[in-house]
Amino acid sequence: MTPRPQAVPDLDWDPERARAFADRTTDLWQEMLERLPSLPVSGRWTSEQVRDAVARTVPDEPMSDDELFSYLREVVFEWSAFPGHPRFMAYISGAGTVPGAAADLLSAGMNMNLGGWQLSPSATEIELALTRFFANEVFGLPPGAGGIVTTGGAMATFVALKAARDERAGWDVRNEGVAAGPPLVLYLSAETHVVSDRAADMLGVGLKNVRHVGVDDGFRLRVDDLRAQIARDLDAGMRPFAIVGSAGTVATGAVDPLGEIADVCAEHGAWFHVDAAYGGPAMLADDLRPLFAGIERADSIAFDPHKWLYTPHSGGCVVVRDMRLLQESFDVYASYTVQDKEYTQHGIDLGRHGPQFSRGFSALKVWVSLLAHGRAAYGRRISHDAELARYLGERVRGRPEFELAVPVGLSITCFRYVPVELADGPGREDYLNELNHRLMTEIQLDGRVYISNAILGGTFVLRSCIVNFRTEAGDVEAVLAVAAELGAKLDAELRPEALR
Ligand SMILES: Cc1ncc(COP(=O)(O)O)c(C=O)c1O
Repeated sequence: MTPRPQAVPDLDWDPERARAFADRTTDLWQEMLERLPSLPVSGRWTSEQVRDAVARTVPDEPMSDDELFSYLREVVFEWSAFPGHPRFMAYISGAGTVPGAAADLLSAGMNMNLGGWQLSPSATEIELALTRFFANEVFGLPPGAGGIVTTGGAMATFVALKAARDERAGWDVRNEGVAAGPPLVLYLSAETHVVSDRAADMLGVGLKNVRHVGVDDGFRLRVDDLRAQIARDLDAGMRPFAIVGSAGTVATGAVDPLGEIADVCAEHGAWFHVDAAYGGPAMLADDLRPLFAGIERADSIAFDPHKWLYTPHSGGCVVVRDMRLLQESFDVYASYTVQDKEYTQHGIDLGRHGPQFSRGFSALKVWVSLLAHGRAAYGRRISHDAELARYLGERVRGRPEFELAVPVGLSITCFRYVPVELADGPGREDYLNELNHRLMTEIQLDGRVYISNAILGGTFVLRSCIVNFRTEAGDVEAVLAVAAELGAKLDAELRPEALR
């Protein structure tokens, strides 16, 4: 006979032990928040150095709390970069809300599984309330619209374009596959984020069937070129199934003419997807909202709370005009999940509305951030980020060694360093590209401020993007001070004879 198993309680920490561990974690977090403004944004490390410092042999027996927290302290303060630092203005990476971080502990503590309603009653209804709020109240989609929380903009885009493919191809792609009909074609602009290309690849559409429509001098999709490319593809017997409009491009913050793109979609029966991964939350700001006119006509919208809603990574969202289409596109039935919903009156299983099966409660950090801060405070701060970006643009214009590359778009300022007495000789543009590339790298390694780059029509420019509620005017001024100092130093080392 099998003996009665003895308890194995090692992993089952009691609430006091849980509290003590969380308290020490919170102490570390508080210290990080206190020291954040005086820490470097990032450091001058190699992968080898960081690996040697942070990789550990997993012990057979528990590490003591003292040893573990001294290790974590070193990870946090010696070997980490801080997108929540007031002087981080690179890429589009939100600062990370404080209530959102705390809510993540609670999500993990409850550990509900949002694949099924019965495993996550409150969580599923909160996720649905969150996506409905954005769909209806923020973006102006009609009742019946809704969506899901995703890992980020890439997955939100994939989900939207999968729903588009399955609804607009004109045959049963889920069963028959993409090869059962004419080639499907996806249209987007040359400035659209690359995750749409990748979605086309993942959907079997094929990268060569993605059309990169030209842009105007404000980097907005050119509708005349869009129409011309669609006409050519129709003549060739292809099927235009979806068009992507950007509500805030990653390079310059350009907003495509959404209303005109919606007209083209309506003419051709194509799905209208809006990549609002960056710009979407700016619909909460009164002064920025008018820029997005036409977004309410979208069939789907991808937007990223972990960008301009500042919530901790990771959490994106996708909403569709008709929420039922998500289930039609993603549903699979697992026979071990039998339920009698008519009897229980339970709600929908989100694991049947998207690519994930088991799902975490990422919605809570976003929901708690909205509740804790309120809609108006969000609107004010998002508007302020854009104001700071315009302020940086004006400071750039006011200094002889900098050149504004393009008018400020949303909260993005693109500029480059051009040494004042640089000669007008051959190779000037190549040298400026090289100089600004090196300058960006040196700024990032230096750690006092952190910005990134854009390539605009072949020109390498420095790029600041403010999606950071800690950034203020002094931080923006520091960007130019550091860029001018390091730029002059690099120019002295690198400038070729011909340009002296
Ligand atoms: C406009 C736009 N779309 C999509 C993405 C991809 O989003 P994520 O990085 O959350 O997957 C980004 C990322 O910067 C973006 O700027």
